[in-house]
Amino acid sequence: MTDGRFCIAIDGPAAAGKGTISRAVAARFGFAHLDTGLLYRAVGMKGGDPIAAARGLCEADLARDDLRSLGAGEAASRVAVIPEVRAALLAFQRDFAARDGGAVLDGRDIGTVICPDADVKLFVTASAEVRAARRFAEIGEGTLAEVLEQVRARDARDMGRADAPLKPADDAVMLDTSDLSIDAAVAQACALIAATLGDQRPR
Ligand code: DC
Repeated sequence: MTDGRFCIAIDGPAAAGKGTISRAVAARFGFAHLDTGLLYRAVGMKGGDPIAAARGLCEADLARDDLRSLGAGEAASRVAVIPEVRAALLAFQRDFAARDGGAVLDGRDIGTVICPDADVKLFVTASAEVRAARRFAEIGEGTLAEVLEQVRARDARDMGRADAPLKPADDAVMLDTSDLSIDAAVAQACALIAATLGDQRPR
């Protein structure tokens, strides 16, 4: 932590629970939260040249109400393999992370690329079956088998891309939520962060 800034990086695959955990952590500690997946979703849904879309991304693009759909997630995962798209979104994410008062960023490459010096790094995961069931219950689109297939395809693309692939940072704490309730997962994340914050306060 430098100058009262505190950065928490939360990464993991689709529907592992990182969004819910990130929002809860941000609320509990009074930090700002950025769901970086929304940036890629907005680029994917804008259509046209994704590099131009990423370079010209604005508030209105992030306010669309279809960004949480399965289609938007799929489109996001496709544009996220393009290095120029990732480069165009880098400065915004780093600026957000460096704000006074603390920040929580969730995504795929926060602990590895965006904020390699984050104070706390969490890698939130769960089995593909559990994640598909959660996603299916949440959005109710298609069938469970289709959602599972999409979850697996998205994992393969996110983990297999050359630029900033999904993987835990060497110093990330792993949190498997397959058999945890949301409350229990949030409690574990908050305990870890509270311990780190405590350690960094002047003695
Ligand atoms: O977290 P999400 O489901 O909203 O992310 C959608 C896609 O965006 C994901 O499949 C890959 C991409 N993404 C990324 O490459 N890097 C990030 N930091 C966040 C999301």
